[in-house]
Amino acid sequence: MKNTVVTFKQAKDEGKKLTMLTAYDYSMAKLMDEAGVNSILVGDSLGNVILGYKDTLSVTMDDMIHHGKAVARGVNNALLVIDMPFMSYQTSVYDAVVNAGRLVKEAGANAVKLEGGAVVCPQIKAVVDASIPVMGHLGLTPQSINALGGYKTQGRNEAAAQKLVEDAKAIEAAGACALVLECVPAKLAGHITEMLSIPTIGIGAGGLCDGQVLVYQDMLGMFSDFTPKFVKRYVQLGDVMKDAFALYCKEVQEGTFPGAEHEYGISEEIIERLY
Ligand code: KIV
Repeated sequence: MKNTVVTFKQAKDEGKKLTMLTAYDYSMAKLMDEAGVNSILVGDSLGNVILGYKDTLSVTMDDMIHHGKAVARGVNNALLVIDMPFMSYQTSVYDAVVNAGRLVKEAGANAVKLEGGAVVCPQIKAVVDASIPVMGHLGLTPQSINALGGYKTQGRNEAAAQKLVEDAKAIEAAGACALVLECVPAKLAGHITEMLSIPTIGIGAGGLCDGQVLVYQDMLGMFSDFTPKFVKRYVQLGDVMKDAFALYCKEVQEGTFPGAEHEYGISEEIIERLY
């Protein structure tokens, strides 16, 4: 069954947990979709895990559209959410609507996600008014890394926690269909989740959120530059892959790959007639 913003709201109302994973290409998206994940996020984390940047700030609209299109080809049932990259919506309400529209028209997004609280609510409202569902994103918002001064847990003191609560309410009032909470204390995420009628999707925000999202390279153990505390590694695929790459190199060098079973045949007579 196709996941939509309507089924997301139903899941919240029925207390059913939602699952979301990031993907950046066709084959990975297809595997996740077939595994039954509710939503696939083409995150601007592609700047870190695919493009090798130190942060997400250099990611462009063209990057998001290029990867979004690839992912869209692999998705049947998951809700496809595509991140709006840095400076594609902060600059104006107009830019937000135009760029959200590009993610839908050119890449096939079912919804877009953007970071920030009350300050971006005019953008959220305008995009929603254009019939494009918006997912909010609060807490550790990587596009604000220079203002935040590092990748740290957010909302730990009363003033910061209250600000997150106010921002969450504003995002819901602006019409967002869901809210990602990144790196916030579990009880604060639980409080926000209870307060809102839209689903919360947590990453480093504990088990009280309505759903969870992880970057797939983190959960599969494929990205070792940095592993946050909240990541659970379901498999150490990076090591399995490195072993496979090394075995391939060894077999090619030793001449044991390719074997007869990997070769295409031709009749001996043809070969003999060649000059
Ligand atoms: O870009 C991303 O992958 C994200 C998730 C961490 C929620 O925004």
